[in-house]
Amino acid sequence: MQTHEIRRRFLDHFVKAGHTEVPSASLILADPNLLFVNAGMVPFVPFFLGQQTPPYSRATSVQKCVRTLDIEEVGITTRHNTFFQMAGNFSFGDYFKEEAITHAWSLLTGSVDDGGYGIDPEKLWATVYLDDDEAYSIWRDKVGLPAERIQRRGMKDNYWSMGIPGPCGPCSEIFYDRGPDYGVEGGPEADEDRYIEIWNLVFMQNERGEGGAKENYPVLGPLPKKNIDTGMGVERVAFLLQGVENVYETDLLRPVIDKAEELTGSRYGATTAPTCASA
Ligand code: GLY
Repeated sequence: MQTHEIRRRFLDHFVKAGHTEVPSASLILADPNLLFVNAGMVPFVPFFLGQQTPPYSRATSVQKCVRTLDIEEVGITTRHNTFFQMAGNFSFGDYFKEEAITHAWSLLTGSVDDGGYGIDPEKLWATVYLDDDEAYSIWRDKVGLPAERIQRRGMKDNYWSMGIPGPCGPCSEIFYDRGPDYGVEGGPEADEDRYIEIWNLVFMQNERGEGGAKENYPVLGPLPKKNIDTGMGVERVAFLLQGVENVYETDLLRPVIDKAEELTGSRYGATTAPTCASA
């Protein structure tokens, strides 16, 4: 499935579920704390914080992003880009955990004929924040994901913020198992290059203060409402659905590699470093 089709299906899925389609904002917004937009939720921060009233209670977008926090990973792993597109659905005080989880599941595993991505449910794993029994139960009892494919993880992995003061909350991530050729058994806790994170569902309910980017920061208190912010990596879903080895070999970026080969006479993959096979 081509990248443009993955984007279209995402937006259509959420528009059908009552979300307003919002165009990507510029990569550069008037926020003195953030050099580039690093997540789909950034343009909506004033709505989460209760500083502005949103003109809709549900939105969906495909946002252009640059994530400087992950920049050291680019070119080393199979899955990190400098620039990427994040597909997201957002609830501003409307639905919460159950609808966020079931909407994501139905798009991922729904048949291609019905507008889904047609992913085999057996390949999917989920993680939840340490004490988030509610999200755990939704995955196990409503979705039917076997308990052995749900893992609990700590703040670094399953509590999300923009890396700076602002909205934050526990999250639940969805991973795709590429199989034993790509690493050891044991789920995302064991190997994040075999088990590729494709979607992060953030239960955006608190506000954070100054501190570390991913952990060691104070949670100041609850937001005015409970919200949903999700981010699906369009390039990651594309590489998995297209059966290629990494985010650089999709229909979107492979033509750039081909052109570089043509111009330089060098062959992609002819040398082994930097490797795209290890995390
Ligand atoms: N806002 C969710 C994420 O970027 O992972």
